[in-house]
Order: sequence, then C-alpha cells, then structure tokens
Amino acid sequence: MTAYVKNLWYMAAWADEIAGEALLARTLLGKPWLIWRKADGTYAMIADRCPHRFVPLSMGKRAGDMVQCRYHGLGFDGTGACVHSPFPDGPPTHVSAPAAR
Ligand code: FES
Repeated sequence: MTAYVKNLWYMAAWADEIAGEALLARTLLGKPWLIWRKADGTYAMIADRCPHRFVPLSMGKRAGDMVQCRYHGLGFDGTGACVHSPFPDGPPTHVSAPAAR
C-alpha cells in the first residue's frame, strides 16, 4: 500500500482532458475517480464506482450534467447524489457516489 501526503492539493486533470462530453477516469491517491465538465463550466469529480453494483461509472454515458451507469441506468449528479432511476420508484435517496471535497 502506498502512503500519500494528505491535506495538500493535487492536480487531477488538464482542462482539455475534460472538455465537452468527455468522461475522464483517473486514479488519484490510490482511488478511482471520474471527472467531467458541467454545462456551467465547473467540473464534477465523484468516485468512479457505482454504489449499486460497483461498475465503473466511467463506462457509462453523459446525460447533461448527469452520468448514467451503464449497467442498470442509475444517474448521478456532480455531487454524487443519485438523481435518476429507470425504475418506477424514482431515484433511491440513500444511494450516492462519494464526491471529491
Ligand atoms: S450497477 Fe450501476 S445502476 Fe446498477
């Protein structure tokens, strides 16, 4: 296991790596992250792991500012909150992907 210095800034990506509809999968500090550019020009960075069945969210697709999991279709916003469900009960409020702080 690699030890990392914490409480420091680390560069996650170059601006051109997250341009347009790109989904960037990147391992930082030993953890998989997903980074993308939102419509307002800010970025989103959440765990690259669907909290449902642990599929990498980077295998999914963009739908506006949301990332939709390729496996069952749950959608997550830039905070990691589940905001879309293809199932009739709506998005589960207790499911979220950890977001970078
Ligand atoms: S594994 Fe992502 S929605 Fe089920």
